[in-house]
Amino acid sequence: MYDTMTMTKLAASFCGALLAFLLVAWASESLFHTGVHGEPSFVIAVDEAPATEEVVEEVPFAEVFEVADASAGEGLWRQCQACHKLDGTDGVGPHLNGVVGRDIAAIDGFGYSSALADLDGAWTPEELNAFLEKPRDYAPGTAMSYNGMRDIEDRADLIKYLEASS
Ligand code: HEC
Repeated sequence: MYDTMTMTKLAASFCGALLAFLLVAWASESLFHTGVHGEPSFVIAVDEAPATEEVVEEVPFAEVFEVADASAGEGLWRQCQACHKLDGTDGVGPHLNGVVGRDIAAIDGFGYSSALADLDGAWTPEELNAFLEKPRDYAPGTAMSYNGMRDIEDRADLIKYLEASS
């Protein structure tokens, strides 16, 4: 029959083998761990071509305005036509013929919001550019419900058109 010593030795060697196996399994697991979706978290760095940095140049508005195209602005004017006219009559918004260089909120008889009425200054091309980019940022509370024109060249073209039709 087996004596206790043999049993203990057997058990001990079995446990030792199991422990060694577990250690190896754990070590390789942590080295080459695969994520939940099977993506290896052990990633070999490859020399990727550096992403060409997008150069967003800040072109001053004056330069864009210099080469702006009034005829391109005519098409953009459609975005304003629902509310503005160029024949000296007011609609939802005040007439815009002559607006370039005109004082802000200067049309007698047009009911401006205080957001515009309280502003000093004149509609220089620069001011129009800032206003048209995001009217509600330029004049918080303005009654002009127009979201804005994102493209600086579009704004320049449109302002050129307004200037030409003044
Ligand atoms: C939904 C109607 C609406 C649209 C669209 C709209 N506007 Fe206006 N606009 C207004 C109103 C209303 C005012 C007066 C705002 C106030 O009193 O706060 C105004 C005011 C202005 C003023 C100030 C005029 C002044 O006498 O001080 C300018 C400049 C102007 N709009 C340009 C434009 C241009 C350019 C567009 C097209 C890109 C445009 N608006 C689109 C309704 C509109």
